[in-house]
Amino acid sequence: MHYLYALCDCITSRNGQIYTHTTATDVRKYSDGYLTETTGGRISSSYVIVASHYPFLNVPGFYFAKMYQSTSYLLAVDPKKTLFKGMFITATTPTYSFRTAQYRGKKILLVGGSDHKTGIPTCEQDSYGALAKLVSRYYPDAEILARWNTRDCIPLDKIPYIGPYSSTLPHVYVGTGFKKWGMTSSQVACEIIVDSICGKENPISSVFSSTRLQPLKNHTEMKNMMVQSVHSLFLDKLKRPQMQFDEIAPDSGSIIEVNGEKVGIYKDPTSRVYAVKPYCTHLGCLLSWNDVDKTWDCPCHGSRFDAKGKNLYDPAFRDLMTYSID
Ligand code: FES
Repeated sequence: MHYLYALCDCITSRNGQIYTHTTATDVRKYSDGYLTETTGGRISSSYVIVASHYPFLNVPGFYFAKMYQSTSYLLAVDPKKTLFKGMFITATTPTYSFRTAQYRGKKILLVGGSDHKTGIPTCEQDSYGALAKLVSRYYPDAEILARWNTRDCIPLDKIPYIGPYSSTLPHVYVGTGFKKWGMTSSQVACEIIVDSICGKENPISSVFSSTRLQPLKNHTEMKNMMVQSVHSLFLDKLKRPQMQFDEIAPDSGSIIEVNGEKVGIYKDPTSRVYAVKPYCTHLGCLLSWNDVDKTWDCPCHGSRFDAKGKNLYDPAFRDLMTYSID
């Protein structure tokens, strides 16, 4: 937060303006520059930098075909015991990381890991449960103070995309695919993009070239992504859901079939029912129920929606269609 506050100060002290809760939805050519559509109005400019985590323009650029999102989990723990010094990451798969932080005058432990592709169904045991088990092995009396999870954009060749958005959109730039190294990579993106706008040569820009074709040469990752997309876009939509309405437990969700149509059902803890059309508003993939967070997640590019269909996470920016329950 110190870092972000300082960044905000840099912008506002130079007469820059920051608009929060304003989602950019489109960029179009306009006169000599561009018109950016947002949920709060239109902005015209000569240059546009798309730094929206997952790029929201599908075409051109096609970043959705070169990148996926990964979810990872974190526990903040009071170990009730003296902690190690340093920061560590395991060399095994799945990967776990260990670091310390100061919290209310105390040194606490942060344990992260249990990563998986966003939208692939998981459970408490495989996510936070795996981290808690690991902690208890070394710190049996530990107390869990907080837990959270986050998503990161992972390019197929594991190198961020920084530079021109596409060769057909001059003066539009992108910085994405930071692969969990956002604080560091965003600085690299700043330098490369600022140099490019100012017409300065940058010695490392070619490494991060956003229009490179290398990601598509990673055949294993490419195949995995295509198989997943074909399933979520076509095959899974043809399968009949196995779950019946009565089988859905309170505070849980699933896709069922109603009059030949797929419907996403969530029953809250009091068994009140919420129903959504379970197709992602990004490119239409079939969503899956995330029982850890109680959300609808997209296995294609990682968009997420709450149990009532409200969009939570990009690249989708529209809510799901809902059904009223009589
Ligand atoms: Fe792209 Fe859902 S995030 S189809």
